[in-house]
Amino acid sequence: MVEYKVTVSTTNIATATTFSNVFIKLVGTDGESDRTWLLSLKGVASFFRGAVSSFTVSCPASLGKLVLIELDKQRLPFIPEDSWFPAKVEVKSPEGETYHFPIYRWITDNEVHRFREGTALKVFDDNHHLGQYSREQELNQRAQDYVWDVYAEGIPHIIKAESPSSLPSEVRFSFTKSTEFAYTAKASLTELNLKGLDDCTERWDDLDTINRVFCCKRTAISEYVQQHWKEDALFAYQFLNGVNPMLIRRCTVLPRNFPVTDDMVCLHGQGSLGDEMKKGNIFLCDYKNFDGLKANTINGKKQYLMAPLILLHKTPEHKLMPIAIQLKQTPADDNPIFLPTDSEYDWLIAKIFVRSTDFNEHQLNVHLLRTHLLAEVFAVSLLRNLPMVHPLYKLLVPHTRYTLQINLLARIRLISESGVFTQFTSSGGEAMATILKRSLASVTYSSLCIPDDITERGLQNVPNFYYRDDGLQLWDIINRFVKGVLSYYYKTDAEVQKDSELQKWILDIFEHGFLSQPDKGIPQRFTTVAELIKFVTMVIFTCSAQHSAVNTGQYDYGGWMPNTPTSLQLPPPTTKGTTDETRMLQTLPDVNATVQGMASLWLLSKPSSDFVALGQYPEEHFSEEVPRKLIKDFQGELGVLSAAIKIRNQSLEIPYTCMDPAEFENSVAI
Ligand code: FE2
Repeated sequence: MVEYKVTVSTTNIATATTFSNVFIKLVGTDGESDRTWLLSLKGVASFFRGAVSSFTVSCPASLGKLVLIELDKQRLPFIPEDSWFPAKVEVKSPEGETYHFPIYRWITDNEVHRFREGTALKVFDDNHHLGQYSREQELNQRAQDYVWDVYAEGIPHIIKAESPSSLPSEVRFSFTKSTEFAYTAKASLTELNLKGLDDCTERWDDLDTINRVFCCKRTAISEYVQQHWKEDALFAYQFLNGVNPMLIRRCTVLPRNFPVTDDMVCLHGQGSLGDEMKKGNIFLCDYKNFDGLKANTINGKKQYLMAPLILLHKTPEHKLMPIAIQLKQTPADDNPIFLPTDSEYDWLIAKIFVRSTDFNEHQLNVHLLRTHLLAEVFAVSLLRNLPMVHPLYKLLVPHTRYTLQINLLARIRLISESGVFTQFTSSGGEAMATILKRSLASVTYSSLCIPDDITERGLQNVPNFYYRDDGLQLWDIINRFVKGVLSYYYKTDAEVQKDSELQKWILDIFEHGFLSQPDKGIPQRFTTVAELIKFVTMVIFTCSAQHSAVNTGQYDYGGWMPNTPTSLQLPPPTTKGTTDETRMLQTLPDVNATVQGMASLWLLSKPSSDFVALGQYPEEHFSEEVPRKLIKDFQGELGVLSAAIKIRNQSLEIPYTCMDPAEFENSVAI
């Protein structure tokens, strides 16, 4: 007889414990063990949360190289079926070799579940017939568990699921996170002391009253924003380092529908507009995707949503300042070009209309579509096409954590018919689908890859652009890590080309995420290792750093409503000289729309307690030395960048923290 020492670790999260009897079968190249009941002196405590328990499995002869294990649990009489969350199983063979079996899955039933040995294998490396069989079985099951669904025509496809509880348990929130999220969603109005205001359909009388509501919950940045929201410098700064750094671009030729002339603008002592454009000192923000949309109706009142154009100038002091705003796309006498030299309230109301459109552009395009919905496509495609033993599954699965569930909750609570977004923002309702559709049509591959995006938008030399500075460094660090891991598993381009699972993954993304649009540069197959590395870098960057860049500051910049109104309820002035403070207050959203917006932004920017920072991989999917060492190097580089960002931030008036890798998660999880 020979003996195998089996060590089973149960994850240390609430409800991971099972009271059931657990059975294991070891399967190797030379045979398999009996299905063996795992008994130890710990008795029923063997599979409690956090337990690491050892057992012996005896066999008549060596099983050869271990290929997989089979695990099942059988409940005790009179005890209901429970859910078990094993982390991993380690098996020491009589030959002295240790085999690792990563699990990190809920086992909720009494069926037999197979788990592969941790060495990553591509489909053409998987030579053992049992390995191949379990690979096929796993993918067949996944294709049934993760089914594509169409949410609306022209936007990325989603996972088919009625409610969070209908999602496969492996992708659901941990107990801690789900109770916390439910609690927060319900309680954020209470927490912000806004209860009672959420059914008030009155307008605000003055800014002081808004301040009394806002002062219950402030952050250092939201307080700064409240003090400086009327200033041009902060208005311009937000196009670089606010929650939407994705729209601004260098302007080399004025758009024909934005007839700004030299005598209109003040160029801070510099030459003509033409000269300054040549020097690269003029920038443009164009919300053309918002042209011709029908705005929402809130509290029975028609709302207004503009499609503005904004021109900005880089001053000799290296500051970005707005120099002209036109609120509608078509130039006309009743569509004035507003200027900083106009009266205080003419200029301020123009900026407020821009900020309100930016709120809607940010939430639907930059945040929902370009991070949440794309992350869902990456996740569903991964789960459908790559088995756990595939190296890309091991690399990417930590970057999909909680994404399917958070998106499902967002669809139910934010953008459904009764959702907060639908009810209280100017783009809620009919306009939403159009904006999402136009946004997807404008997504290109290069706009998702920050080095290409910054070059294409001509933003290489803009001063004080921390989204770019931190983002480019993060991209490089992620890219080095991805290159290390993928070059280890793919030695030649031919290996990439013949990996049928990998090719199905990218084709699924092309078809279901980008709706097979051929002219956007999105790959539909990989021919080289380099193409694969770039795409996977983009996936990790989008799910982690990019999501944080557009998510974290939402309350900082939106908590003080006048800086980011979710909707506006009077039309913009058609002539100058007609706006005063009263008209501005009448234009701002009603009390209930304001507090619902504040509560949602508070909820969405709150870090969760089971936060896992970029590059931290508590689940050990890789068992080979090379990828494990690359993970350590990755963590080291992220640590150095985090320290440098913290030092840089000490000298900034507004610290830019949302791309500090110690402060954001591996995945879209909120
Ligand atoms: Fe988010």
